[in-house]
Amino acid sequence: MRVLGIETSCDETGVAIYDTDLGLLAHTLFSQADVHAEYGGVVPELASRDHVRKLLPLVRETLAAANTTQQQVDAVAYTAGPGLIGALLVGACFARSLAYAWGVPALGVHHMEGHLLAPMLEAEPPEFPFVALLVSGGHTQLVDVAGPGNYQILGESLDDAAGEAFDKTAKMLDLDYPGGPHVARLAERGVAGRFEFPRPMVDRPGLDFSFSGLKTFTLNTIAQHRQADGLPDDQTCADIAYAFQEAVVQTLAIKCRRAIEQTGYKTLVMAGGVSANVRLRQVLQEQLAKVGGRVFYARHEFCTDNGAMIAYAGATRLQLGQSQALAVNVFPRWDMTSLPPLGQS
Ligand code: KG4
Ligand code: ZN
Repeated sequence: MRVLGIETSCDETGVAIYDTDLGLLAHTLFSQADVHAEYGGVVPELASRDHVRKLLPLVRETLAAANTTQQQVDAVAYTAGPGLIGALLVGACFARSLAYAWGVPALGVHHMEGHLLAPMLEAEPPEFPFVALLVSGGHTQLVDVAGPGNYQILGESLDDAAGEAFDKTAKMLDLDYPGGPHVARLAERGVAGRFEFPRPMVDRPGLDFSFSGLKTFTLNTIAQHRQADGLPDDQTCADIAYAFQEAVVQTLAIKCRRAIEQTGYKTLVMAGGVSANVRLRQVLQEQLAKVGGRVFYARHEFCTDNGAMIAYAGATRLQLGQSQALAVNVFPRWDMTSLPPLGQS
């Protein structure tokens, strides 16, 4: 089965073709980062309009790159949520219309399931069961993945998501949007031990997270070292970025360790934009190695939003006969545990 996947939940237009026999045939991505950079965050209406502009050219380009004619596409998968409602509606209307015109089934995919399954696109995919750490701009969740499509949320952020905390810290340090990669790069020049940031909620039992206090701590630290131009000196900014990243990484690592202990699983899958963070990967790998376990993640371009993960998750469900009627429905908020199972584990 050959599936066209379409991702438009936020500020990336992603398109891909996945073939259940041949694997990923092609994927293209247009990042709107430049469109939103001057506003320091995503402007929903601008995002929707840009998806309208980019979808058709990207679909044409991806079909050509996959050497695939429209007659060879067996189904269309698109992100139906969670995400920005306008951006989701653009992708959903477009995908449903294409599927209707081509006379093939269509399926709305859960964006976080897309992220969670993205490591399956790699040469050595993880095996079920596993604990998934989903860390994106909108979500921070620990999920017990007992089998395919069998999800139980073990813990999640009570306020800001990890990626959101990175983005807000970047803004405070006058770095560009999206901030995660910029904070990570600045942190490489930071000196360990100069600042110690709190690890929120680690002294409480349970697997929930809270990152909004860390944001305030960062803001106060910047204020204490502010110079005449409004920011601390370069080295201090780097030291703050280091301490902030370390606090987020160690907090995530502590909760991952608890989730691994609680479930008894030996596999940790990390997914979502923040799973591209090199320091987070390193700390989790060391931690899992100590208990004889392993960490899996997708290649860098499939950690952040992309069409390939939607084509893959969609193909997996469509192959089982799951598809939906013609109505265009999107879900800006959507509980992943409500999804139907994906067959036997
Ligand atoms: O999964 P994603 O592309 O979009 C959402 O579904 O939200 O995640 C985007 C988030 C942003 O907050 C971005 O700053 C963060 O992932 N991010 C990173 C890194 N690369 C992207 N955070 C920390 N370190 C990185 N290297
Ligand atoms: Zn995402």
